[in-house]
Amino acid sequence: MENRPAAKHILHSGYFHPVLRSWQCPNTTVRAESLMLPLFIIDSDDEVQEIPSMPGVFRFGINKLKAFLQPVVDDGLKSVLLFGVPQNLPKDGQGTNADSSVTPVIRVIPKLRDWFPNLVIACDVCLCAYTDHGHCGLIDSEGFLDNQASIERIARQAVNYAKAGAHIVAPSDMMDGRIGAIKRGLTEAGLGSRVSVLSYAAKFASAMYGPFRDAAQSAPGKGDRRGYQLPPGSAGLAARATLRDVEEGADMLMVKPGLSYLDIVRQTKDKHPEYPLFIYQVSGEYSMLIHAAKNGVFQLQPAVEEVLLSMRRAGADVIISYFTPQVLKWIKEAQN
Ligand code: PBG
Ligand code: ZN
Repeated sequence: MENRPAAKHILHSGYFHPVLRSWQCPNTTVRAESLMLPLFIIDSDDEVQEIPSMPGVFRFGINKLKAFLQPVVDDGLKSVLLFGVPQNLPKDGQGTNADSSVTPVIRVIPKLRDWFPNLVIACDVCLCAYTDHGHCGLIDSEGFLDNQASIERIARQAVNYAKAGAHIVAPSDMMDGRIGAIKRGLTEAGLGSRVSVLSYAAKFASAMYGPFRDAAQSAPGKGDRRGYQLPPGSAGLAARATLRDVEEGADMLMVKPGLSYLDIVRQTKDKHPEYPLFIYQVSGEYSMLIHAAKNGVFQLQPAVEEVLLSMRRAGADVIISYFTPQVLKWIKEAQN
């Protein structure tokens, strides 16, 4: 008798059945609502391009998008995050084609609203894909980032996406004061109550964005982004940046990248439990899992499911993931 565990130390009795196991994992279920799909929209309307560094992910021309999205929406897709990838439109110092009437994001929003009336449309707001220097903000004559000019330009971009019909604008540029500038812009445009601001609040300068810069063709020409994206070791700056964005009126918060920053997710959720928290499983995280599975390291499905579950457990409400179409299929299969 002596070496038998005490009753309260017997744990198996709490999770011997799948339903009991689900009770032990509150808020870790990944549902369709917990997923947002990033989409790359190009300015060649009839083209589909596979992204070499992200097997299974494509850039779409506007005329090819509906056929791709229809089955994903049928599988339960609730929300998308749009990135414009201009390949023909010229880039310039002001990022003019970030929100010109001919740019793919502006043109595709009304179509998406028409094709899929229940789909939530979020737009990434940033200048890096549209500027000739490839930085996320505007550069002054001496080559320095001009914060004030940047946030004024980014607020205009956000308002123009909102006017085109975006439900959510999501600034990823990391300039100081952009949330306040965007909120003021939306209010002045009469859209203050109808458009959400999802702040990339704690966005770190990460090696994991490599494949994205290939996907979005948005690598900076000179220098890097360490002057505006957060240093990966700094939980302190993450907390300050998030608090600032909350004070400026952000509706929802994000931590990015995902897997290497789950402590930041927990810290953010604990500090700001009132706010929906997004986590971005970025391009490099996607490619790592895809390549590991392709090389026989593990099976893709259980590995992806475990990673997504860990993000929910850390406190994320919504996961932005390139795996979304695949995961929606898995969710559906599990229900049948
Ligand atoms: C650009 C932007 C980046 C990502 C989203 N918006 C790249 C960067 O900051 O260099 C990364 C997304 C990904 O890697 O999947 N503002
Ligand atoms: Zn950018």
